[in-house]
Amino acid sequence: MKISFKINGDNETRDVNPSKTLLRFIREDLNLTGTKEGCGEGECGACTVILNGKAVHSCLTLAAEIDGAEVTTVEGLVKNGELDILQNKFMEHNAIQCGFCTPGMLMAAKALLMVNQSPSELEIRRAMAGNICRCTGYKPIIDAVKDAARGGRK
Ligand code: FES
Ligand code: FES
Repeated sequence: MKISFKINGDNETRDVNPSKTLLRFIREDLNLTGTKEGCGEGECGACTVILNGKAVHSCLTLAAEIDGAEVTTVEGLVKNGELDILQNKFMEHNAIQCGFCTPGMLMAAKALLMVNQSPSELEIRRAMAGNICRCTGYKPIIDAVKDAARGGRK
């Protein structure tokens, strides 16, 4: 089937197998490999992308569902060659170790900050509860999101 959608600000029309997941479509058809496959069944959050303003698990979403929709992947966080403040704060706070969870963490945090620019720590923890990290112990990730929400202000 043919689908038309916007990905990271660009309009695209592609043929897609109706049974293909959005995760596979993004990685294999669009060659956007920043989005990671961890569990493949909605448990780890590594595959998180933003679909029409909401964080979704792309492993549980069909590519066909993005017809007429707008999708942002981790590659779309960079604007005019500049990293998003979240990416800078993740680096500053050492919130990245192996990095496998990082694209999903960033996209879950971005979706939160798009609708809530001054989230409480509890709101951050709730928004990112579906994202698993086996390296960092989570504190630096939460600190990085809090700092990004403050716009880097102390
Ligand atoms: S790969 Fe989608 S939630 Fe784990
Ligand atoms: S940094 Fe390794 S899983 Fe999070």
